Amino acid sequence: MRKLTFSLIPLIASLPLSLVAQAPSLDLQVDHPTAQVSPMLYGLMTEEINFSYDGGVYPELVRDRAIGKDWGSLFHWSMVARGESAVQISMDETTGPSEALPRSIKVSVTAASEAAPAGVQNDGFWGIAVRPQTTYTGSFYAKTDSVGVPVTVSLVNDETGATAATATVTGVTGEWKQYSFTLKTADVPATANNHLTLTVPRPSTLWLDLVSLFPPTYHDRPFGNRIDLMEKLAAMHPKFLRLPGGNYLEGDHIAERFDWKKTIGPWVDRPTHPSPWHYRSSDGMGLLEYLEWCEDLKIEPVLAVYAGYSMAQEHVEPGPALKPYVDDALDEIEFVTGGPETKWGTERIKNGHAAPFPLHYVEIGNEDEFDHSHSYDGRFAQFYTAIKQRYPHLQLIATDPVKSVKPDVLDEHFYLPAEESYAKASHYDKADRTGPKIFVGEWATREGTPTPNLEAALGDAAWMTGMERNADLIIMASYAPLLVNVNPGGMQWDTDLIGYDALSSYGSPSYWAQVLFGTYLGTEAVDAKLANAGPRVFASATRDEKQRKLFVKVVNATSEEAALNIALNGVARVERDATLITLSGKTPNVTNSITHPDVVVPVEHKIAVAGLKFKQSFAPYSINVLELSY
Ligand code: AHR
Repeated sequence: MRKLTFSLIPLIASLPLSLVAQAPSLDLQVDHPTAQVSPMLYGLMTEEINFSYDGGVYPELVRDRAIGKDWGSLFHWSMVARGESAVQISMDETTGPSEALPRSIKVSVTAASEAAPAGVQNDGFWGIAVRPQTTYTGSFYAKTDSVGVPVTVSLVNDETGATAATATVTGVTGEWKQYSFTLKTADVPATANNHLTLTVPRPSTLWLDLVSLFPPTYHDRPFGNRIDLMEKLAAMHPKFLRLPGGNYLEGDHIAERFDWKKTIGPWVDRPTHPSPWHYRSSDGMGLLEYLEWCEDLKIEPVLAVYAGYSMAQEHVEPGPALKPYVDDALDEIEFVTGGPETKWGTERIKNGHAAPFPLHYVEIGNEDEFDHSHSYDGRFAQFYTAIKQRYPHLQLIATDPVKSVKPDVLDEHFYLPAEESYAKASHYDKADRTGPKIFVGEWATREGTPTPNLEAALGDAAWMTGMERNADLIIMASYAPLLVNVNPGGMQWDTDLIGYDALSSYGSPSYWAQVLFGTYLGTEAVDAKLANAGPRVFASATRDEKQRKLFVKVVNATSEEAALNIALNGVARVERDATLITLSGKTPNVTNSITHPDVVVPVEHKIAVAGLKFKQSFAPYSINVLELSY
């Protein structure tokens, strides 16, 4: 091998210069930023899909907690009868705790005793996670024909039948009322194999609805978000949350849209609604909860308002018919931002949040290119005019190009196989700069399921180098979908960033790619010229002038090491001590899972750079951030 190399030298020397393979290089013009990086570049996109909310980031532990108007069955409710006890359960369509929830679970106990109580159980979202030394907050609405019958609520292990925690509620009357309880576990094993029971010790009829149980939440916000998932989201350093969808905003039918006014206030006034992802939403994650989620992460909402199109090709004609929907959007903005002098600001204050929320971006609809009636231009213009008139400072996002007015921002979506993500990494390099700014509101490389594999992460990272390079045009971007319950039947859309079950969660390789790009964002894009590296090596660079830091991202999607001659131009010096963070694997198929969550995770190396020109190798199938101080 060595001999062959030497014997080639005279041959190479005699070849014309253009035919001699040039060494791969990356030239960085550090003193010459090409664009400001939008401080909001990376954010989160969310909707109720893959059981993202109920049983997920909204950590309600009781499945089908509320029996909505057109509820089909009591699928996750079943009877509890031991020994001599006897019970029947059914859906009672004649009584419920409120106008919004007119039905209930009827529990008819015909035989029961202290030793053999009877009642109902709920199996949760593929089990109920129980942890040691933990306090759970519960409540239910009930009435009975046997006034004073005590109701015992217990967390019970599916396999052993052992009770992990129990509490008894007394004083149930003949009128609908809400009762609260607390369940405290002692030294029990952490497991998802549990169910919740509600039992009585004597024959009686009990009607139940809105049975709820919450674990501790992120930052202890009452009925807030699931801790492990929020920690993972916080680690992405997101700057915004695009809410509430996605298709979830639109619904299949107009009546099934995200009708925000039905998602605020006490739970008992929220009727619940069917989602386009084929299961019902409790609407526990209502508009205010979304906003509080933003507040928990110290990020801004990007508020998508329903714009008169639902996916079964139902649309509302622009003009008088659309006016109520435009008014709804104006009210929604007022709910988010209004003070006590406004009707909907007052409503928010009544709901428990005095301070208005920051809001700069409002999106009109979602993926309106699918509206075959082509009514979006007119619908967008009507929303645009009304919103700009009242809130001129708001930046309005269109979901499809329109002609009658110029949107501030255009939302473009990309779901691509890895090969296309590589090919499209330069998609925006020559894009028109005279039109609206771009929000890449949904994008993902789709390889692997339920969560993306390393190949997908390589495609994502290649794509993100393109977004960073075009930071003058792309102001925001959010991967989608964000979350998936990995249990059988939990997923409606494969390739989702973060997977979980009732007990634990993990980040996919694509998640870690997001963490790296979000953490090392920088404030200005730096000209980064990659040469002779082949079509599957990608690079971008940003700097933070205040911190005198340079963040060089190199994606090597090949099976060989990529050795780059790196040149830092336009700076006098670079510190010798640098950090290289690498996310890599032996094959592109490697991935993380609920049982093997840490197969592909970033690894940090301290390295020494020789000077302003140095050679650096990047591992096969790797995503790298090189952090340099200058
Ligand atoms: O992210 C999943 C879906 O993809 C979104 O709901 C929709 O906007 C897009 O088509």
